[in-house]
Amino acid sequence: MMAEDAHCSCGDLAAHDGRAISDCKDQDERIYMDYNATTPLEAEVIKAITEALREAWGNPSSSYLPGRKAKQIIDQSRESIASMVGGRAEDIIFMSGGTEANNLVFHTAIRHFWKSCGAAKISELGGEHHNGKAILPHIITSNVEHDSVKLTAESLLNEGKADVTFVGASTVTGRVEVEDVLAAIRPNTCLISVMLANNETGVLMPVKELCVRVRALNAQRPSPRILLHTDGAQAIGKVQVNAQELGVDYLTIVGHKFYAPRIGALYVNGPGTLTPLLPMFFGGGQERNFRPGTENTPMIAGLGKAAELVSLHLHEYETHMDSIRQYLEQQLQAVFGKEKIHFNSHFPGSETLPNTCNVSILGAGLQGWKVLSGCRKLLASVGAACHSDRVDRPSHILLSCGIPPEVAANALRLSVGRTTTKRDVDLAVEDLRETVVTCDSPEAESLSPQ
Ligand SMILES: Cc1ncc(COP(=O)(O)O)c(C=O)c1O
Repeated sequence: MMAEDAHCSCGDLAAHDGRAISDCKDQDERIYMDYNATTPLEAEVIKAITEALREAWGNPSSSYLPGRKAKQIIDQSRESIASMVGGRAEDIIFMSGGTEANNLVFHTAIRHFWKSCGAAKISELGGEHHNGKAILPHIITSNVEHDSVKLTAESLLNEGKADVTFVGASTVTGRVEVEDVLAAIRPNTCLISVMLANNETGVLMPVKELCVRVRALNAQRPSPRILLHTDGAQAIGKVQVNAQELGVDYLTIVGHKFYAPRIGALYVNGPGTLTPLLPMFFGGGQERNFRPGTENTPMIAGLGKAAELVSLHLHEYETHMDSIRQYLEQQLQAVFGKEKIHFNSHFPGSETLPNTCNVSILGAGLQGWKVLSGCRKLLASVGAACHSDRVDRPSHILLSCGIPPEVAANALRLSVGRTTTKRDVDLAVEDLRETVVTCDSPEAESLSPQ
């Protein structure tokens, strides 16, 4: 897909509906391959948002027509999101995005631990102090999570509110292995949070198997049970995600990764009944008091429409992205030579997202940031968008997965989307070849046209 589609600066919404792209001022062809950072809005999503802006401007809590219209749109959207992730409408709580959803889960787990820990429970855990240390709720997560999980966990740890174990991803499989998570469980463990798919490598984590094992343990443990959370930001819209089948208590849903606007939702299996959910905000009672604040009807309408599209077309999206990503990988090997290419997203025995190719072009002077800054067409990143101020350092995610520093330093995260074509791939790979030739690298010579 050309980037005018994704990043048009002309400010004309109509220009994005796929018809009027040529209206944009910037005619330079750009190839956008950073769909793990964000996605453009689908035309139908823009339509739903625009209609809601015009027609459903009423306060959804008002009983007259514009209010009722807004409430109806929100209810419909909640149904569509629930159906996309295999939940019930009442399991979906709208929020600002993935960061808020992840924070809410962690804060809920800590507060629920204390709420359900009477004096009897604390003595069961070995008393208020154990080996001179206060008993704290214990959280298990991994060392390859997004910052909205990693930094939340670190802040709870640093503030003395929780003990945290960051289980290391396997350097063989790139996955967070079930046995390693189980080995970290303690009597005071209250939450396990492991992402569904990694945003840099695309590796799919064994969340379903983990949930089966932890649920079996929970059945034998005194309450409070260990709560199970997965951050589904990168998986939703790319592979089938069904919260009930996974067996999670919480699933983070992030709109701007599946062609929806920048809001999100949290799936909670029976919020407040089967699964605790304790609000961080207090206010006017919206979202059943779990997340008060007047609802953002137009963005919720867009999120619902995008969810509908995923439910209808996931197979087609997945098949297309997978074939384009495979073509990209073949072309990279054909142009640079197999020995010059290392795929940081290939791990033996691990499945990955259909759209994510994390690749290093091997050689001195070919650091990812340097290559990308020389590209004239390709728009991609070296890792998570939130680390874009640290591009000159190898990604800690890749290092954690066992990629050697000199290889990780050259990493390019190329993530394709629903409309990426083989022509886009050809142009992007040619752009990379031309850039590498001009880079000050001994590898360059062999790539110059003879
Ligand atoms: C895996 C993952 N989790 C959470 C987030 C954060 O979501 P948001 O940008 O909606 O706060 C992202 C976004 O990049 C992500 O990739």
